[in-house]
Amino acid sequence: MTMHIHPSILSADFANFESEFRTISGADAIHVDVMDGHFVPNLTFGLPVVKRLAEVSKLPLDIHLMIENVDDLALGYADLTKGSVTFHQEASSDPVKLARKLRASEKRVGIAVKPNTNLDLVLANLNEFDMVLVMTVEPGFGGQKFMPENLIKVQAARAEIERLGLEVRLQVDGGVDEATIVDCASAGADTFVAGSSVFSKTDRNAQIALLRSEAKAHYPH
Ligand code: DX5
Ligand code: ZN
Repeated sequence: MTMHIHPSILSADFANFESEFRTISGADAIHVDVMDGHFVPNLTFGLPVVKRLAEVSKLPLDIHLMIENVDDLALGYADLTKGSVTFHQEASSDPVKLARKLRASEKRVGIAVKPNTNLDLVLANLNEFDMVLVMTVEPGFGGQKFMPENLIKVQAARAEIERLGLEVRLQVDGGVDEATIVDCASAGADTFVAGSSVFSKTDRNAQIALLRSEAKAHYPH
């Protein structure tokens, strides 16, 4: 199983994204946290900034939408990336309908759940998505403490993906570092967002390589 490491630029220098990208060239994709100050109590950037990030990035963007009105706004972001776009189940009035609309644009589509949201809808419709994002902190800010109680959802999603024989990526986001990634990979995650644990290092590519090797070593298969 290939392990994917996606540094979150929420912990990067917001005045120097292009040069920050050069320091994480060993990553598999760049995780871009779009926050609107309503769905989460923090505000980052919107469509025009993400458009420029996609233009200057050599890596695909993994866009994580933490916004309201996602049914109307998600397609605009999907059009910008060759990577993936992930929306929150809690923000969409009809997640399956939205996923179908985004998949028609031939992008990988992810569905995210907050810590207090159960996985029932996701598990009942797994074939509608290319990725499941289990949040391991309350979304909104980088540098928070990992919430291990969410690993049970990772295990449940992995079991269902295997049972159905689907090629759905299983992502975790929040508090992922070289210690917590061990439990995430053991639970069956294959795609890891890491913000502060990458950007706090001077050699960020070395940290990305460490995260990847820890994940590989502990993934169950
Ligand atoms: C939180 C964001 C994360 C955040 C993770 O709402 O979705 O992507 O950047 O940051 P760390 O890895 O520092 O917990
Ligand atoms: Zn995120």
